Amino acid sequence: KSGKIVVIGSCSVDFTTFAPRLPGPGETLVGTKFMTSFGGKGANQCVAAAKLGGDTYMISRLGDDQWGKNYKDHLQEVGINVSQVKVTPNTTSGIAQINVAESGENQIVIVPGANAKLSTSDVDAASELIKSADILIGQLETPYETTLEAFKINRGLKLLNAAPARTDIAEILKYCTILCVNEPEASLLTNLTVDSVKAAATALSKLLEMGCETVIITLGEKGAIFASVKDTQPIHVRCDPVVPVDTTGAGDAFVGALATFLATKKDYPMHQVVGAACHVASLSVTKEGTQTSYPTNYNAFNKEYQYKRL
Ligand code: RIB
Ligand code: NA
Repeated sequence: KSGKIVVIGSCSVDFTTFAPRLPGPGETLVGTKFMTSFGGKGANQCVAAAKLGGDTYMISRLGDDQWGKNYKDHLQEVGINVSQVKVTPNTTSGIAQINVAESGENQIVIVPGANAKLSTSDVDAASELIKSADILIGQLETPYETTLEAFKINRGLKLLNAAPARTDIAEILKYCTILCVNEPEASLLTNLTVDSVKAAATALSKLLEMGCETVIITLGEKGAIFASVKDTQPIHVRCDPVVPVDTTGAGDAFVGALATFLATKKDYPMHQVVGAACHVASLSVTKEGTQTSYPTNYNAFNKEYQYKRL
């Protein structure tokens, strides 16, 4: 079996409206469609990894409402091990209220609910699993101290997706094998304006100084750029353009795909692995929703991704 991928993080129910554009403050718009779906950055990443054939495990908390049980069943159906997915009494499941514009852009408000209750005691309870993970993935939608504790005890590859962005995460960066952020997140962490490939390259070196072994900045339609302590010269991997329908959770598709490819495609160079993960993310952008838009058993390695050393 391929390497064990353990995700510690959020499960949320997404309430998504689709409208011609995003509303301004105080504005009411008439939308065209509404749907509820399984989301949350942690679960999205785990599902993306599982759908591509990863050996996946989820550590998270759900509420004891109608969503909680359904969500656990759903994860199991996708093939994820849910022995460390706990239902929390007297708590609501995490929710995300999402607006998607015709351009594919979105805005999101989350209410953490049970996600806020994922604690270091959950890390203790799952310590055997966390220690045995070949790849451990964390985000910032569940308490930081909990993710930090998990990163401290794992001896494998630790992948942090620092989303949603916050600045007080210096300690965990020292434990990160790979830090993965988008442009706004990179901006916030470095205090630099990251709005171009060149600016992202500058941000990479600043992020590497903070202690991570490898840093990847995803650039949306421009692909991704990465560098590592061992090879500090940034590599920009390009991505085929697509017509965006819904960009929600594209970053999660990237992270989940990256994990499965790192676990199963060990013989490929990093630019090819990053290119394949970008490709999966761009496929997800062409369909509505997050998990529903992630490809199943997809072969992203039958082409060569264009890359350039900067
Ligand atoms: O990254 C996308 C996710 O962020 C959505 O599924 C939503 O739950 C929000 O948390
Ligand atoms: Na999508």
